[in-house]
Amino acid sequence: MGIPSSSVSMHLVLLSILSSLCLTSKAAQYRYHFCSNQTTFSPNSTYRSNLSHLLSFLSANSTTETGFYNTTAGQTQTPENTVYGLFLCRGDLSTKECRDCVSTATKEIVQLYCRDEKVGVIWYDECVLRYSNRSFFSVMEDEPRTVLWNLLDITERDRFLQLLEKALSDLVPAAANALSGAKKFATKETKFTESQTLYSLVECTPDLSSFDCNRCLQGAIAKLSKSYDGKRGGRVLSPSCNIRYEVFAFFHVQAQADAPQPKGKGKISMVIAIIIGVTIAASVVLVVLLYCFQRRKERKKSNATNEKNSGKSDGLLSFHVLLSSSRFVGGAALSGWSLVEVLVDASEITNVESLQFDFETIEAATNKFSDDSIIGEGGFGKVYKGVLLEGKEVAVKRFSMKSLQGLEEFKNEVLLIAKLQHKNLVRLLGCGIEGEEKLLVYEFMPNKSLDFFIFDSKRRSQLDWKTCNNIISGIARGLLYLHEDSRLKIIHRDLKPSNVLLDHDMVAKISDFGMARIFCENQNIASTKRVVGTYGYMAPEYALEGVFSVKSDVFSFGVILLEIISGKRNSGFYLTEHAQTLLAYAWRLWCEDKVLEFVDNFLMESCWTSEIVRCIHIGLLCVQENPNDRPTMSTVVVLLGSESIDLPEPKHPAFSVDKFTQIDEFSVNELSISNIVPR
Ligand SMILES: *[C@@H]1O[C@H](CO)[C@@H](O)[C@H](O)[C@H]1NC(C)=O
Ligand SMILES: *[C@@H]1O[C@H](CO)[C@@H](O)[C@H](O)[C@H]1NC(C)=O
Ligand SMILES: *[C@@H]1O[C@H](CO)[C@@H](O)[C@H](O)[C@H]1NC(C)=O
Ligand SMILES: *[C@@H]1O[C@H](CO)[C@@H](O)[C@H](O)[C@H]1NC(C)=O
Ligand SMILES: *[C@@H]1O[C@H](CO)[C@@H](O)[C@H](O)[C@H]1NC(C)=O
Ligand SMILES: *[C@@H]1O[C@H](CO)[C@@H](O)[C@H](O)[C@H]1NC(C)=O
Repeated sequence: MGIPSSSVSMHLVLLSILSSLCLTSKAAQYRYHFCSNQTTFSPNSTYRSNLSHLLSFLSANSTTETGFYNTTAGQTQTPENTVYGLFLCRGDLSTKECRDCVSTATKEIVQLYCRDEKVGVIWYDECVLRYSNRSFFSVMEDEPRTVLWNLLDITERDRFLQLLEKALSDLVPAAANALSGAKKFATKETKFTESQTLYSLVECTPDLSSFDCNRCLQGAIAKLSKSYDGKRGGRVLSPSCNIRYEVFAFFHVQAQADAPQPKGKGKISMVIAIIIGVTIAASVVLVVLLYCFQRRKERKKSNATNEKNSGKSDGLLSFHVLLSSSRFVGGAALSGWSLVEVLVDASEITNVESLQFDFETIEAATNKFSDDSIIGEGGFGKVYKGVLLEGKEVAVKRFSMKSLQGLEEFKNEVLLIAKLQHKNLVRLLGCGIEGEEKLLVYEFMPNKSLDFFIFDSKRRSQLDWKTCNNIISGIARGLLYLHEDSRLKIIHRDLKPSNVLLDHDMVAKISDFGMARIFCENQNIASTKRVVGTYGYMAPEYALEGVFSVKSDVFSFGVILLEIISGKRNSGFYLTEHAQTLLAYAWRLWCEDKVLEFVDNFLMESCWTSEIVRCIHIGLLCVQENPNDRPTMSTVVVLLGSESIDLPEPKHPAFSVDKFTQIDEFSVNELSISNIVPR
């Protein structure tokens, strides 16, 4: 598709600068973790304090030559409290990169992943860290072992697999037979097609013997081959070794030291380096100018319209700049759009072509965007059902480019969704761009969305308690991923039943990231004067004051949970003081100890009373008036998954009638309410 390459590279440079402001502030990219739940320690235990020591030893020793360090903490007289630990950095990293990853890992493993387990392993793109109450040094351990895949497929999958197996096997001896004390690490680049190169990597912890390293890697390769499904990238992670392949350079590619460089080449790369340097410098200036210009424009505009400007949105700087810069450069050389860069930036997706659908293909699939194939509509445009030539069903979101908002939502959505990957988030298959047309293609969800079921008396009967419970925990896990577990911290801001899609197994998938906001790592709260979202699901502090945080999503989640259980809408916003909102209704029944009256009749037949009461209890905790009283999603997930943890007594929910009166200050025009029924 004809995107001028100069504008693409310009955009790339811009994006990389912008994203470095916020996105990539985190040094390590989390991939997986394992905590043995069989062995736990209590918060004040000796083990706990020795583990803290161990982690600080590891962190303090993270600039070793080999990118590896093993140590122990605790006295030998008390072996039960001794902690053993090590880290291993990817062999190509600089000591600084290694230190950053180890420092992140030592913090995150105890804070986020293995809070009270004696045995833990965590894998990042850049390093692996483990500890245990058992000495595991020089012992080969390939369990727990996990395989992760890149989302995208490769062409010629069989030839690719052959090439891959050969490349990996070639690397094994190079890593395994490294001298003792040296890194057991090897990488290789192999040409696959004219434009694609296979990059492969194998690595063992250097405390293993050659024999053990060899055994661990061979096992990993066998595992990879066995589960290979034509993906263009993948990896096998185990405590003692790991392997990875991609068709982009995910490690620092070494200049071939043994191949003497022709003299001219050095000069050329010098020239290129200068060009790149100048371009980057120029882009920085441009970005700053754009930003200042935009701020001035905004200030002027807001003075003119005499709007209240809270001026607190600086934390969102980089994304405003990204969106607004292309807004007013729009149409000129940069052609006002940034999908390419976004996708290139998403570390897993390097080849944009492969994600793109031909506009003609989509046009044909949707019967020329016929009205018959419309399955939903929102502020950004329409959603169509399409059938591709090979019979695959897809949902196509077509963004209306008449409104700037459509353009922003499109970019926002692509930016986010290209980076996210979770069972409970809807999956992007690709996109199509031609001129003004901007399309996103998703997997098709045959069971439409949650509202389609829960508010319809007939279809409701298809939902038993088990299904409802799964949907609730699915939404919770998807949200938890957005808030904490993906590399970014994302606030959805428009969570509601119509944005929760259901696949054919009734697994919940959160969709519609058009309103979502990305937070910097240490940012917890933001405010906006443009309140977007849907009444009935918005937290009071957000609807009334424009202040949002992860706790506003928790509120929306609580409302959805209560709607699922009661089968009633929380559309209380416009009710008079005599009527009730769903939340007030739930609260009254809770206080009167008649909470089972709240439960929909269909559900009552298939549920355990204690389970459903607990679920309502959790829902009420989520909709409490004060955001600080609401639990985080990680707590919610834990509470939903356990029957034994005691729950605190909920306080009064938000939106008692007297608070409502203030809502009149908002005119409906300021809200972009998207009532689509995406599938
Ligand atoms: C530990 O985790 C396994 C697998 O997730 C699970 O089957 C088992 O019930 C858990 N055990 C405890 C004590 O939580
Ligand atoms: C842990 O320590 C805190 C304060 O240091 C104390 O209040 C608490 O009771 C202790 N818990 C246990 C289980 O010892
Ligand atoms: C490295 O770890 C050892 C324990 O293995 C510790 O005694 C030492 O202080 C650490 N090094 C630094 C620089 O802190
Ligand atoms: C590191 O592991 C080796 C065995 O591989 C062991 O001999 C050595 O004592 C360990 N280092 C520490 C500080 O425990
Ligand atoms: C391990 O914990 C014990 C008890 O708190 C303490 O005496 C010992 O110094 C700790 N060892 C290390 C290396 O932190
Ligand atoms: C590790 O802890 C578990 C549970 O506390 C215990 O059963 C096991 O024996 C410990 N292992 C060692 C080597 O101390």
